[in-house]
Formats: sequence, structure tokens, C-alpha cells
Amino acid sequence: MRMPENKGSELIKDNSGNTTKHENSAVITSALPYANGEIHLGHIASTYLPADIFTRFLRLDGTKAFHICATDDFGTPILIRAEKEKKTPSEYVDFWNRRDYEDFKSLGISFDFFSKTSSRENIEFVQYVFKKLYENGHIYEQNVIQFFCTFDNKFLPDRYVVGKCPYCGAENQYSDLCEKCGRVPEKILDPKCAICGREPIKQESKHYFFRLSAFSDRLKRWLSENQNLQPDVKNYVINWINEGLQDWDITRDLSWGVPVPMPDAAEKVFYGWFDNHLCYISSLVKFIEDRGGDGKRFWNQSRVYHFIGKDIVYHHYLFLPAMRMGINEEFKLPDYIPTRGHLMLQNQKISKSRNWYIGLMEFTSTFNPDYLRFYIASITSYTQTDLNFDWDSFYERINNELIANIGNFVNRALSFTHKAFTGRVPEPAGSAELTADDRASIQEIEKAPQEVGLLLSQNELDKALKRILQFTTHFNQYFQKKEPWSNKTTANTTLYIAVNAVRTTAIMLEPFLPFSSEKVWSQLGLSGSVHEQQWNSACELRVPAGHALGKVEPIFRKIERAEIEKQKAKLGKRE
Ligand code: 2FM
Ligand code: ZN
Repeated sequence: MRMPENKGSELIKDNSGNTTKHENSAVITSALPYANGEIHLGHIASTYLPADIFTRFLRLDGTKAFHICATDDFGTPILIRAEKEKKTPSEYVDFWNRRDYEDFKSLGISFDFFSKTSSRENIEFVQYVFKKLYENGHIYEQNVIQFFCTFDNKFLPDRYVVGKCPYCGAENQYSDLCEKCGRVPEKILDPKCAICGREPIKQESKHYFFRLSAFSDRLKRWLSENQNLQPDVKNYVINWINEGLQDWDITRDLSWGVPVPMPDAAEKVFYGWFDNHLCYISSLVKFIEDRGGDGKRFWNQSRVYHFIGKDIVYHHYLFLPAMRMGINEEFKLPDYIPTRGHLMLQNQKISKSRNWYIGLMEFTSTFNPDYLRFYIASITSYTQTDLNFDWDSFYERINNELIANIGNFVNRALSFTHKAFTGRVPEPAGSAELTADDRASIQEIEKAPQEVGLLLSQNELDKALKRILQFTTHFNQYFQKKEPWSNKTTANTTLYIAVNAVRTTAIMLEPFLPFSSEKVWSQLGLSGSVHEQQWNSACELRVPAGHALGKVEPIFRKIERAEIEKQKAKLGKRE
């Protein structure tokens, strides 16, 4: 369990020790990665990077925003992998919990709390929720005919069985999720044991069911009334409800999972999708309570965002809200479920088994992590459209936009101030002497952070980044037009405005490029860190005349063509 930043109890309690109200607070969760492998670029684009950019913006904008995540430790694939590696499941998930956290950190993904679904607090919370659902009449028992492999001598839940999806006919799908149509198949066709490939037999076992079907009307109402959910996603989820929801088998005959707290349920655990999303709540509650606050109250008074990729819509728009409804909304439903498409790699589906993927750590140890953040943010829209990571377009965007536009402006403004004014911000002319270009540039400083802030608050990250690029384009043109190197009399005003625009750029870029914007901040010679600033202060000219800049050097390094060719050649070939 990792806690990178201790936000301190002052955020939870006021000076007199009373718990404060959290009107302006937000809980941001990112879908929990399975604890069974390294994080790769596919994970980043749909979920973690958008959530991180958004959270960083909220923090700058004065919201108490906490980004919560954890590893998803239970489930059959993890058990299968741990068995293969001759580790206990808990050794296995501990390893990946630490590794995943390091992977994220290398990209500057700043979780306030990174926990695990196998934590004590989550196990207790899951059992509590189950009992509540049971008391409220939303759970029933039923004997089910289960697949059983006589060769492996095991019940075969979920991913232990592969077959044909009964809805769309896609072959080779797991019995718990069709990756082609996104539905959860009730009865997989042509089943095979995933371990040995043999046809399983059927055997009876008692399971617990959640009455999902009973929530159809409430779910439909919630979906129709919630204006914050993306309309296209809502529409197809409502269609699923109209087709009829099936009750949901929430238990499994396995040894690894949250134990079912019933007298006759030894050797039964909950299905991973029953417990994993509850970890959003149990982790936040633990995080707040460790700091002396009231976790439940914090959750209920905050705006709640669950960032996900489109493959887990079914779980987040149906199972998750229905379970919260089933415990009388003791913990409120999400206000937003930002749902984004998948990342393709060179126009092909990412696949670990075909080695068609790029590990996050591998990427961040080769290139500046902000290059990946910049590129992904510039192609990630607030829709379910799939994205494509393309090495050539990465090369173009980094060299031509990030470096030639943003980097160029920052470096020009700061190094020219060093050269012509010994690194001190010059005194500008009085307002009567400002030219139309000076005035337009000051207005741009006042206006851009507001427009970028609005787009960021609406989760329109690619549009916000585009608007920042317009800002630096404006200032490159301003610099070019004013020619401070030949116009000695106006150079002071030009540089004064330009250095202030660099400060505005640093703040606006912080959510996108946390590493580089801190460097810009230190080159500006300003005190504190850029991530401690207030977003609104970016609209002001806060760098005074006479201020001494720090040491200036290029923030970015251009990418060479050969580096890109090398990366392309590696794809699909890794051991
Ligand atoms: O699909 C997945 O990768 C799951 N591990 C996501 C879980 S999110 C949940 F916790 F709601
Ligand atoms: Zn088998």
C-alpha cells in the first residue's frame, strides 16, 4: 500500500480541530488494474492519464481532490498466474501492487492513495455491503450447474472457461465478459477449460445471486436523470436494460477472494466484480479516516468521478450503481463516469501475448515521461472513440508542437532576458505607451487560463491542450513581431510581458506536464512549486520588474528519427 503524498490532516480538519465541510471536494477514482502484469500504454490512455490531469487541475483550482486507486487482486487469471509461478496469490499480488505503483509514478500519475482490493479494510467493507444487501432482500441463494474440469479437479468459474459469446457469436471469449460486444454472457457456448483445453463437465453448487433485475427501473431513472453522464454511453446502457437484466451470480467456488460471510459458505468467495469497485469507497474512507476525518461524510459531500475505459461500462453503469442503491445509497452514486475508448498501437489492437504493446516503464526510461503525457493528452477526446498511438505522429507532435512551439517560446523568452537584461525582468513601459500587440498579449494572459480551465473542468483535455498551444503560438508570434533583439526601446515591455506569459504557461501546463512545468518554474526563479499555485493566478502578471530569473537551459530534447525507427523495429519482437 503506497501513500505518496501526505496531504495532512489540515485538509480534513479546520484550525479549531472541527471537521470541515467538504463542499468543494472531489473523489476521483481510476479503474483498478489487475495485479497481474506491468502497466502498459493501453491502460494509461483511457483512464489513468485523464484522471491524473483532471485531478491536478482540480487541486490547482482549489478543490480538495483526492485520486484513489488500488490493484484489483482477486479473480481467476491471478490465481492461474500465481499457480504457474509457484507463488501464493498474496505474494503474487503484493509484487504487482508495488510494481504497478512504480510504473504509474514514472509517468507522474499522482495518486493520493494506492491500495489493494485484498486489504483488510476492503475485505471488511465488502462483507458489510453483502450483509446489508442480504438484509435488504437483494440477495438469494440458488443451485447452479457449474463447469467442472475432471482433469484439473476444479470448478471453472469465469476466465477458467472460454467459448463462444451467445450474443454476438464472437469466438474465444471468456465466460465472464465478451470483449467483442462488451456484454456479460449468461451462458457461454462451446465451453473449454482454459487450463487444459478439455471440455468441462457440469456439476451442481450453491451460489448467491444479486437481484440486478429488480433495479432495472431505478437504474433507468438514474441514467436518464443524470445529465453528467455521456449521452452515447447512457443510450446503449439503457438499451441493455430494455433487453432485460439478468440477476448476477456473485459467488465463486475458489480459495482466493473475499470470503462469503455466511455459515454454510466455506470455500466460497465473492466474484471479483462484486468486491473491486467497493475498494473505491473503502480506500477513500481509510485515507480520510487515517487523517482524522469522517470518510463516509467526505464521500457523500464530494463530487464523485469514476474514470474508466469503455470495456467496463457494464460494470460501472449497472452493477456498481445497483449495489449502492441496494444499501440505500449509504455511499452516494457517482456524479460522473468519464468513459474513454481504447488505445491502438500502430493501428493494431494492443496484445500482450503477441508482444504488441509498450510497457510504461520501458517508455518512461527511454523518453521524457512528459512526452508521452503530451502526446496521449493531445489525441485523447472525451468520447469512446478508439485512439491510435503512432510512432511517426508521436515524433511529429513532440518535435513540432511541444518543442518547436511551447519549448521554443519558453526558452526564447527566458534566455533573451538573461542575455539582454542580465536575467532580471525589465521594467515595462507605462500603460499609455503600450502598443496594440502588447495589449492583446496582456489580454491573452488574462483570458487563456479561464478558457483552458473551463475546458479542463469539462474533462475536454485535448481541447484544453490545444488552447494552450494557441497561447504559446500567440506569444511566439508576438516575440517574432516585436523583435526585442533589434528594438532596444520596446524590448523591456516585450520581455516583461513574455516572462509573465511563461509563468502563465507553466501553471496551465502543470496538469499535463508536471515534470517540465516544475523545471520552467525553477527557471523562472519563482518560489515554491508550480503545483502549489492557484489556477486563477495564471491570469495575472505576477512576475514583477526586477525579479531575477533562475538558470535557464532548454527544457526539452528533440527526438531523432533513428530513435523512432528503433522503437518501431522492437514492436512485436520483444521476448
Ligand atoms: O477491467 C479491469 O481491469 C478491472 N480490474 C477494473 C476494475 S475497476 C473496479 F474496481 F471497479
Ligand atoms: Zn482442465
